[in-house]
Amino acid sequence: MKNILITGGAGFIGSHVVRLFVNEYPEYRIVNLDKLTYAGNLANLKDIEDRPNYTFVRADICDYDRMCELFAEYDIDGVIHLAAESHVDRSIKDPFTFARTNVMGTLSLLQAAKNRWNGEWEGKRFYHISTDEVYGALELTRPDGAAPYGDEFFTETTKYDPHSPYSASKASSDHFVRAFHDTYGMPTIVTNCSNNYGPYQFPEKLIPLFINNIRRGKPLPVYGRGENVRDWLYVEDHARAIDVIFHRGRIAETYNIGGFNEWKNIDLIKVIVKTVDRLSGNPEGHSAGLITYVADRAGHDARYAIDSNKLKRELGWEPSLQFEEGIEKTVRWYLDNEEWMDSITSGEYEKYYTEMYGGR
Ligand code: NAD
Ligand code: DAU
Repeated sequence: MKNILITGGAGFIGSHVVRLFVNEYPEYRIVNLDKLTYAGNLANLKDIEDRPNYTFVRADICDYDRMCELFAEYDIDGVIHLAAESHVDRSIKDPFTFARTNVMGTLSLLQAAKNRWNGEWEGKRFYHISTDEVYGALELTRPDGAAPYGDEFFTETTKYDPHSPYSASKASSDHFVRAFHDTYGMPTIVTNCSNNYGPYQFPEKLIPLFINNIRRGKPLPVYGRGENVRDWLYVEDHARAIDVIFHRGRIAETYNIGGFNEWKNIDLIKVIVKTVDRLSGNPEGHSAGLITYVADRAGHDARYAIDSNKLKRELGWEPSLQFEEGIEKTVRWYLDNEEWMDSITSGEYEKYYTEMYGGR
């Protein structure tokens, strides 16, 4: 495979995947296709933007004609599809945008790939990046014990049971991808991953939002009682898993990707507060008073926990970073890159896109 289309490469996870592929595979041409929504930020890729094996294309995956043109123009052999609307709270307010991009956009890409490849599947691959949220919610059967907080885990055969408009749209896109394999024979792979954390995450998501609020002495809005449980994976470990699966994963398979690293939100938040205070030179407990309990998220899933043993067994992947190390690295990165954060929160980063592309 030579020409790889990575969609959503200007976003959080996509930027790490693009960086890894550009660095590791100088023999590939990496085409980063991104619409540059509010979540897309080319500053995430400053360090690799001049590489000869990297091309950026601004386009909307829902624009089917444009997708067909791009598959032909770059003679695309492989797709790693990350472009999506990704924030659950936004999906509750605006489900249409999620259905449009995540469902219709994925379908438009699939159809463009099918037209271009025209039944010649040899050497081709369509890899769709999805989420553990499609499986629904697990029960918290050990709410007060040490993690894991329950006996059940999502496996690759867990039935889909999405609850939010976001997870419903991702579930639908997963079904379309599998349908293109089953109906037309397209070589597809789907992976479902747990919560990612690390550098370049848009500060609407829990970890960067809270780091930034602590920096600014602003309240930390904990939904409900902070008892919901998530499994956290360092983003570079996810990118490494994507590399391994793209090259060695079995066609038509699903792989779960997770950190075996469950945290109750409130416990995680206390670790973040402590780490930011320590690395900022504040006395312990300095920012603890910012924790503020607010109304719960509608339909808030109690617990996500991923069993990624299949991936370990078949392809030898497992997380490389302990959580303590990952969270330290992450907090340090946001504190050392205040400019990145401030350009987003002040809206300054919009100006760049207005100058370059006439706005978003
Ligand atoms: P993100 O919101 O940070 O980035 C999404 C990117 O997609 C942005 O650059 C945006 O501009 C682009 N995009 C959105 N709509 C588009 C469109 N119509 N056409 C072209 N580009 C468009 O998201 P993320 O957190 O990096 O997530 C990436 C993918 O991984 C998503 O598919 C998400 O469902 C999945 N995922 C995320 C997590 C997580 O914890 N963040 C976990 C599991 C799976
Ligand atoms: O599980 C994978 C999913 O993880 C991805 O598919 C999504 O794209 C990604 O956004 C993430 O979804 P979550 O909803 O779990 O992530 P978020 O960072 O929004 O919230 C994490 C937890 O923290 C969740 O239980 C809600 C809670 N929360 C979140 C925010 C933003 C708060 O208590 N307060 C907040 O302000």
